[in-house]
Amino acid sequence: MGLNKVKMVIDRDYRIGEIDKRIYGSFIEHLGRAVYDGIYCPGHPTADENGFRQDVKDMVRQLNVPVIRYPGGNFVSNFYWEDSVGPVEERPKRLELAWRSLEENRVGLNEFISWAREIGSDVMMAVNLGTRGMDAACNLLEYCNHPGNTKYSDLRIKHGYKEPHKIKIWCLGNEMDGPWQIGHKTMEEYGRLAEETAKAMKLIDPEIQLVSCGSSSKTMPTFPKWEAVTLEHTYDYVDFVSMHQYYGNQAGDSQDFLACSDDMDQFIRTVIATCDYVKAKKRGRKNIHISFDEWNVWYHSKEAEKNITESKPWQPAPPLLEDIYTFEDALLVGLMLITLMKHADRVKMACLAQLVNVIAPIMTDAAGGKVWRQTIFYPFMHASQYGRGFALLPVIHSPKFDTSKHEDVTAVEAVSVYNEERDEVTIFAVNRSLTEDAQMAVDVRSFEGYRVLEHIVLESNDLKAVNSSLEQKVAPKSTSQSVMDGGVVTSLLHKASWNVIRLGK
Ligand code: AHR
Repeated sequence: MGLNKVKMVIDRDYRIGEIDKRIYGSFIEHLGRAVYDGIYCPGHPTADENGFRQDVKDMVRQLNVPVIRYPGGNFVSNFYWEDSVGPVEERPKRLELAWRSLEENRVGLNEFISWAREIGSDVMMAVNLGTRGMDAACNLLEYCNHPGNTKYSDLRIKHGYKEPHKIKIWCLGNEMDGPWQIGHKTMEEYGRLAEETAKAMKLIDPEIQLVSCGSSSKTMPTFPKWEAVTLEHTYDYVDFVSMHQYYGNQAGDSQDFLACSDDMDQFIRTVIATCDYVKAKKRGRKNIHISFDEWNVWYHSKEAEKNITESKPWQPAPPLLEDIYTFEDALLVGLMLITLMKHADRVKMACLAQLVNVIAPIMTDAAGGKVWRQTIFYPFMHASQYGRGFALLPVIHSPKFDTSKHEDVTAVEAVSVYNEERDEVTIFAVNRSLTEDAQMAVDVRSFEGYRVLEHIVLESNDLKAVNSSLEQKVAPKSTSQSVMDGGVVTSLLHKASWNVIRLGK
């Protein structure tokens, strides 16, 4: 085993852009045990007077999530919002088509918005452009945001919510390019519907920000034409285009799996280029920003999922998409976070999909059991906690290698974030080599008088190590692997490790 030598230069004046805190958003869908038996569990020893688990709220707070997407996902494309409001005992049960479950509407949009506000998050609401259209979207917006004296705002007041919810961010449907989507559309169909819906919604509330649906992944056959065609319709009314991407190590090739963040980077670059093409074609002035509103690792649970949705449909809150994350999954999540930060100038929102029980950093054991942290909880928590401020241009020289499906993969991926208010710089670095440790020398000349505050590491000698409610095999620790000398921080980055190196005065 050798030692890779890595050089990095950071300078307080070389800024990519200010990180929008909303890139540390997450997602709760009415899917599986995310809502029922996840955040909501009346009868649980920690449940509050509304049935929401206090221990789950506390753990979500540790992630400091500024925005949460709701209520889907695929769920939204068959969502009848009117069924989810008003007296609970009068709400109907519905067939939930996306996940072939039973939606009992015990938690609806008012309860969810109150829960999100309580934990300090804004809500990013999605409208149903699958089975429904402009009419339902406009009524929902009027219900949520209009102060009063109209049919739907008065209905909200009657339901006990005098003040408007003032939901600022609205997604115009979900993954409308995907054949699996209920009410899937061609690009022309979606473009026109989204354009007219956006136009009407902005008339109701000009303050809202709208997200136009982008491709469901980089591998969709219609990518990137989908973005080019649909944004030509929606450009005048929207602020964001969505991106979604999940990765998995189905092939059992860990070194190649850790190179997937390079695909994510390429995906982002192509979407930015497409947005700029549309801007030029429209002779427009505004940039369309990116809302990377679904991203994560997702593959462990895929077969189990089919077993439930195909053989045992229409269950309330069945255990779906309950991926148990390995240590290597946490490394890729760290790499994906670094990729998002590196695009701070154009990626202004992002949602780790999802938050509780469903492809989630936070799990609850069934039947009101314990709440616990998955491996991926930690890189997300670190990024959300220390990755606020200005993303600095990472000038990195790292050895490179090829993997089975990727070329020129850097051994070390890193980015640094300068927090002017706290007078701190944090370097996030993943050594994704599975065989070599790395010695990283970071030239920090413009940060005179700074010292190493802390070097946090997430590592394991078992790439497949997982956590559970009984044991936290994968958890961060503080090390003394970084030293500052003459304006250079020298850090030892163990092979396969996530590193958070904090500098301050
Ligand atoms: O997050 C799980 C699902 O993944 C969402 O419902 C959908 O939008 C995506 O395909």
